[in-house]
Amino acid sequence: MSSTSPPIVRTVAELRARVGAWRAAGERVGFTPTMGALHEGHLSLVRLAKAKAARAVVSIFVNPTQFAPHEDFAAYPRNEARDAELLASVGCDLIYAPTAAEMYPPGFATTVTVAGVSEPLDGAARPGHFAGVATVVTKLILQCGPDVAVFGEKDYQQLLVIRRLVADLDIPVEILGAPIARASDGVALSSRNAYLTEAERPIAAELHGALAAAVEALRAGRPVAEAEVRAAARLSAAGFARVDYVEVRGAGDLARLGPGPIRPPARVLGAAVLGKTRLIDNLAV
Ligand code: PAF
Repeated sequence: MSSTSPPIVRTVAELRARVGAWRAAGERVGFTPTMGALHEGHLSLVRLAKAKAARAVVSIFVNPTQFAPHEDFAAYPRNEARDAELLASVGCDLIYAPTAAEMYPPGFATTVTVAGVSEPLDGAARPGHFAGVATVVTKLILQCGPDVAVFGEKDYQQLLVIRRLVADLDIPVEILGAPIARASDGVALSSRNAYLTEAERPIAAELHGALAAAVEALRAGRPVAEAEVRAAARLSAAGFARVDYVEVRGAGDLARLGPGPIRPPARVLGAAVLGKTRLIDNLAV
C-alpha cells in the first residue's frame, strides 16, 4: 500500500479549484461517490475511473437523507484514515469529504425525485431512500463536474436511477456501471457485511445462491413467478428473518416481467434481512 494519502478537501470551493485546474490543463476527471467504509468493490470502481480519466476523485459522505429514522445511519461504519490509505493504493488523486453542513446548509429545500425506476423494489421497501440518493448524487456530480462517474452494479436500481436523472437533467457526465465484486463464498462485497456475525456469514451466501438458482431456472425456461417464489422460500428456509423481495425485472427499466418465461435482458434482484443486516444482490439473466 502506498504511504502517501491523497489530499482531502471538505468544501465545494476547494473541490472546484482542484478539479478546475486539472480540467484547465486538459486532464479528464473520473469521480466515484462513496459513503466510505471502503472495500475491494469500491477500489474496483476507482480503478475503473482511473482507467477512463487522468485524475480520480472519490467522495466520502455518509448521506443522512438516504437513511430512514429507524435505519443504520448512526451505526454506519466510518474510518476515514483507513479509507484514505486504501485510496492511495489505487491512485486516487483527491478525496472530497464534505461535512453535513457543507452539503445541507441552513435553508436547504430541494429534493430530486425520479419517478418510475425508483418506485419498485428498494423504492417500496425503503420509502424516501432514492430521493435522498438522487439529491445527493446530483449535488456531488454538480459540485465535482467530472467527465465520468462510476457506480457499482451491486446497487443496480440506484445505478438506473442515476442514469435516469443524469439524462433527464442534462447533466454532462458519462455514467459507468461496474460489475459486482464478490467474496469467495459468493457474497457481494458491501460495507454492511461488517455487521454479519460468523454464524450468519454462510447464511448470507444463500442470497447469491438463491438468485443464481433463479437465473438457472429462468434460462431453462421456467416461469418467472416460480423462480421468484422458490428463491424467496430458500431465503426464509436458510434463516433470513424477512425477505423484502426477489423479483425478475427488465434490465433497462425494471419493468415487471412474467409471470411466464422471460425474454432477456432481465435482472433478478433480491433484498432480505439477516439478523440486523439488510443485504441486497442481483444477477443478470
Ligand atoms: O452507493 C452509495 O454508496 C451511496 O448511495 C452514494 C451513491 C454514495 C450516495 O450517497
